[in-house]
Amino acid sequence: MTTFNDTLEQWSIVNETSTQCAWIEDISDEWTNIDTSSDEVSSLEDALDKNSDIKDTPNSSIDNAETGLVPSYENVTFKEDTLTTNWGYREITRGGQGAINLIQHKKSHRYYIMKQMFHDVDEETKHEIEMFKAAGGHPRILSYLGNLPNPPEPLKLRPVFEYCRESDLSEYYNAWQEHKKPLTDALLWHIFKQLAEGLVHLHEECNIVHRDIKPANILIASTTTGGYPEIKYADFGLAEFQSEERDKEEYGAGTWSYQPPEPFRSTKASDVWAVGSVIHYLAHGESPCSLGRLDTDMPIEEKKERKNLAPRKAKHICGVPGRLHCDALCRAIQSACHLNARDRPTASQLLQLVRPFAPAKARMAAKPLEDWAIKRKVPGHHEFNLWELFPDAKTEDDPFA
Ligand SMILES: Nc1ncnc2c1ncn2[C@@H]1O[C@H](COP(=O)(O)OP(=O)(O)O)[C@@H](O)[C@H]1O
Ligand SMILES: [Mg+2]
Repeated sequence: MTTFNDTLEQWSIVNETSTQCAWIEDISDEWTNIDTSSDEVSSLEDALDKNSDIKDTPNSSIDNAETGLVPSYENVTFKEDTLTTNWGYREITRGGQGAINLIQHKKSHRYYIMKQMFHDVDEETKHEIEMFKAAGGHPRILSYLGNLPNPPEPLKLRPVFEYCRESDLSEYYNAWQEHKKPLTDALLWHIFKQLAEGLVHLHEECNIVHRDIKPANILIASTTTGGYPEIKYADFGLAEFQSEERDKEEYGAGTWSYQPPEPFRSTKASDVWAVGSVIHYLAHGESPCSLGRLDTDMPIEEKKERKNLAPRKAKHICGVPGRLHCDALCRAIQSACHLNARDRPTASQLLQLVRPFAPAKARMAAKPLEDWAIKRKVPGHHEFNLWELFPDAKTEDDPFA
């Protein structure tokens, strides 16, 4: 096996000479040594599915991806007291711009997420909503459902989103860590494929660059066959439409650890790197460039200086002791994280690369995940606080239902 090394030069060599690694789990011999260019591979998943009686869960949005049946909430309207009369809430976390609240409709008991912004209507929040709308309607993108107004603070935006009850990929990884288990190859391929699917939609159908792809911004909506997670891209605060001008600008926002080494990071190629980095993190516990944390508020000059002081350590993917993953997976990560941006695959090419290895439904059912891997449970209604500014008002039907 190739020995661990961490210099950029060696990284490039490793890309060319990646060696065969052992499987960390016993899936099946037919999955090893698959030649990704052969037609046989693309038919493997189909063949397995065709021969299987196993059906996906009826509400799976994976099926929606195939049928295009994604709900639209464009025409939802609210009365002025909608928030205080109809909803209970519970803060689940705080971000830079606002608090993330789990809200529950009192009558229907359905759950949603509402971002309670700290500031009055601001261009950044409006921009994020516009980006969500532009990217929406796809099962790999978190659905933006509308805005909940509140009379005492009419200028504050409260965007509402679907609730992803099994947390984000960062927490998901931590759950596996707590159980001292590495994510299985089948699981990594499954997540990789979905990330690539979402990227094809963002880049090629919407012309949007996300610019902040990282585990905490990838949510787990639910699970499909065998408890495998269904993921969604979230947090479009830094997303932008791709343009030639932007491609040429140096860019310093986003999350350092998941950004590529080149200074031009508003490109589609930088998103592809980030996707590879996320899978690298899930496989090895750190991203390829995990050095040099940069503070978001730091002046840009200081950021540049720090970056020069902390040269990136692209970590060799295959040879991490105790974290052996199959050679094809290593190669796919290395391809997405190619040091030269021009040599990275496009989103479609990445999908072509990973799709043949993603487990078919039959495979997922035959090898279900353990119960603890399906993490966050819906909290009971009693845990919710009520706004109750209008206690006698009649509760209305859920406008998002
Ligand atoms: N729709 C959602 N369902 C479940 N959890 C969510 C949802 N939206 C956000 N979160 C949680 O809140 C965190 C922060 O949300 P995010 O939109 O990324 O805000 P910020 O811009 O502050 O990073 C996420 O990492 C995730 O853990
Ligand atoms: Mg975020």
